[in-house]
Amino acid sequence: MCGIIGFTGKLEAQDILLDGLEKLEYRGYDSAGIAYFKENGKISIRKTAGKVKDLRAICDDNDSLCGIGHTRWATHGGVTNANAHPHKCGNVALIHNGIIENYHELVSSYDLEKDLISETDTEVAAALFNKLYDGEHPLDAIQKAVPLFKGSFAFCIMFKNNPGVIYAVRNVSPMVAATCEDGSFIASDLTAFIQYSKKYFIVPEYTILTMTSEGISLQALDGTRVEPEFLEVNWDITAAQKDGYPTFMLKEINEQPAAITRTITPRIQNGLPDFSEDNIPKSLFENCRDITIVACGTAMYAGMVGKSLIQDMLGIPVTVAIASEFRYEKPVITEESLVIVVSQSGETIDTLEALRLAKTKTEKTLAIVNVKGSSIARESNYVLYTHAGPEIAVASTKAYTVQTAAFYLIACKLGLVQHKLTETEAHEFIQNLQNVSGHISEILKLSDDVERLTKRMLNASNTFFIGRGIDYTLSMEGALKLKEISYIHAEAYAAGELKHGTIALISEGVPVIALATQSHVYSKVISNIREVKARGAYVILLSMDEEITDTSICDIHISLPKVPDNFAIFESVVVLQMIAYYTSVGKGLNPDQPRNLAKSVTVE
Ligand code: M6R
Repeated sequence: MCGIIGFTGKLEAQDILLDGLEKLEYRGYDSAGIAYFKENGKISIRKTAGKVKDLRAICDDNDSLCGIGHTRWATHGGVTNANAHPHKCGNVALIHNGIIENYHELVSSYDLEKDLISETDTEVAAALFNKLYDGEHPLDAIQKAVPLFKGSFAFCIMFKNNPGVIYAVRNVSPMVAATCEDGSFIASDLTAFIQYSKKYFIVPEYTILTMTSEGISLQALDGTRVEPEFLEVNWDITAAQKDGYPTFMLKEINEQPAAITRTITPRIQNGLPDFSEDNIPKSLFENCRDITIVACGTAMYAGMVGKSLIQDMLGIPVTVAIASEFRYEKPVITEESLVIVVSQSGETIDTLEALRLAKTKTEKTLAIVNVKGSSIARESNYVLYTHAGPEIAVASTKAYTVQTAAFYLIACKLGLVQHKLTETEAHEFIQNLQNVSGHISEILKLSDDVERLTKRMLNASNTFFIGRGIDYTLSMEGALKLKEISYIHAEAYAAGELKHGTIALISEGVPVIALATQSHVYSKVISNIREVKARGAYVILLSMDEEITDTSICDIHISLPKVPDNFAIFESVVVLQMIAYYTSVGKGLNPDQPRNLAKSVTVE
């Protein structure tokens, strides 16, 4: 969480920092700030609680070629001007993404209390760097300070007496850097500077980066020189812009057909799944007795679809674990277990730590990740990149559908390798997967209808999402989406479980979004829907029926294109995303930046 950027070069730093922070704002938007060297060598700071636009309003200086900027998601200390970054202490100004877990100990061990004016862990780091800085040798101060920190950090630091130079160092929290004719850049992610350079490198952990307008150098904490490993991005700045849409979320919902096609096409050869370009060997799927899928939030719900599918098709046990729980449990994983971690950002700390734990038990780890070169992608034994392109809206949409599509490829491959699927069946399965993009395009045409039906949701304080089997996993995703961007309480329930307690909450007019796409449980779900309808619920039903006019079943019916049951989830989820989206917009909220949230959860 938190977005950081640094620039030093030939261009006006303030403009680059503010523009970059706007692009990074999805990482946190509680407060924003910049620090820059003035021509006289002094460091100036502008910061404020609020968004980057509020910061822009108080930035009036245009005489700097070097500076650092930060957009915050508050962890320690409330959303105040004092707690906003950068933090300046004596001769040091610094920004930070992460959590310094031992900041209390550092305050007492190094007698820093008198230097602090905020409630943040970050200011303690600034005070410590300042304490260890002799006024001349920044690298010495960094070398001494860094081993003292416990926790995660990405720091960009400026030292008085070193105008034009930015130092950076990280542990866990992400940081990428680039250098080009205009100068040198560092940021939490590429979106901040991709318009200047498509070549970049990931700052290695515990490596000190020194950047000047001339270029960037890296050294290990013991002073040994380190060579950066350059990567090249395959998307450009337009992919990270709204492109005429009012919001990123709507743009990303609409990008799903293309994102799915991009993700599956390179992995289909002669109509069958093929991971040879991903360097994923067949052996990963052979002798695989059980599978554990670990992820957080929407990525975990994609994993639940994967579980449902794989268990159904292969009959092998699949467990889905919440990464933050998995880390502290004693997971039952053997050398023959396949562990699949799923993450859009590839930086979610709990998923990363879960992967590290899994690697102590099995070499069969596979990451489904969207961001190239991210920590999870680098650390997993195998990676299957989704090609959703940058996902900027906090609520995940296209990442979910491409992650799910990846599970369909994996399920099919497992089925073939383990002889549970014939080639003919696999061909048919893959053909159905290839048809998904077209069906989603059809669903997207329903946006006006969906927008209209959400008028009924705007004043709701409670909603329920119900379904059975794979539809139940989807209900969870639909409920999460609605909660996070509309702030309406939404609960997902297995339709058959309602009458064991929760049905007591159904009263006149409570919206219930019901999913009935699975033929083997269709009549059961319809009975469950009748039960809530009989108690006054306002039912919105998604099914593949052409028409349902029976008002004892539903108030609104959304007819989905007919597809094999297993493939209906792609259509349903897009409707659920649109329900959440139009409810949020209808309430006058900004779906791209819901309160209290940030895109990439890099703290525990
Ligand atoms: O980057 P990741 O996929 O690891 O992120 C996982 C969750 O934080 C994320 O899916 C979150 O639940 C979304 N905001 C949901 O829309």
